[in-house]
Amino acid sequence: MSMRLVFLGPPGAGKGTQAKALCEGWRIPHIATGDMLRSAKVSGKLPPSLAQQMNAGGLVPDSVVIALIRDRIAEPDAARGFLFDGFPRTVPQAEALDDLLQTAGFALDAAVAIEVPEHLLIERATLRRIDKKTGQIYHLKYKPAPPGADLECRPDDAEEVVRQRLKTYVAMTSELLPYYQKRGILKRVSGEGGVDEVTARIRAVLGSRSKEDGKELAG
Ligand code: AP5
Repeated sequence: MSMRLVFLGPPGAGKGTQAKALCEGWRIPHIATGDMLRSAKVSGKLPPSLAQQMNAGGLVPDSVVIALIRDRIAEPDAARGFLFDGFPRTVPQAEALDDLLQTAGFALDAAVAIEVPEHLLIERATLRRIDKKTGQIYHLKYKPAPPGADLECRPDDAEEVVRQRLKTYVAMTSELLPYYQKRGILKRVSGEGGVDEVTARIRAVLGSRSKEDGKELAG
């Protein structure tokens, strides 16, 4: 058994939070292109012009992201499955992923779109804080950090940048959601409510395979 999934959703929808919770049980890697690009930025591997594009709420070119994914998907831990968070974001990226999988003899099981009203997205993103030492994600209102945590804010979580990212997302998904809808693998899930509530909804749309943590994916 295996699980090959993508999580789609606007900034602050909870893709990372849900992916982390689910992948631990399923024992498949959580592959977040945003995290990969931020690491490349910190290590100086991302050209400064692209780092600026990210900071301003725009997308990095398809060719850059597809190259990252091509290498990542070939790693041994992705052989039994993966959960992509924030990839694909455009139809060319989705087509490239399909081609990569087809070459390896696999197909995507589902594209899960997490849907959250705009006012909540702004609140979730602008009040998100990250512990510099552990990388743990907190929220000033919904998930306060323990005392002593050394918190920082992502540069693209400033409200005006979040609004720009939302516009970018809307422009991008106008084609991406129908792409997966036509393929019959799009699952829409409400991301409102508590984290556990949303996790339960995702498990429900994915069916019985997703319910037993680890066991069914271990073969
Ligand atoms: P990326 O890092 O992917 O950002 P994003 O898609 O905008 O998503 P976020 O990380 O902001 O939100 P999330 O949905 O993961 O929410 P989270 O779980 O953290 O991309 C950043 C940039 O990289 C892009 O703008 C682009 O420039 C570039 N990039 C990345 N991928 C690319 C690609 N494929 N192509 C081109 N460019 C690409 O939750 C948010 C907050 O809410 C947290 O504080 C959390 O604690 C809280 N929270 C979560 N769920 C709940 C809940 N149910 N109730 C209350 N609080 C909650």
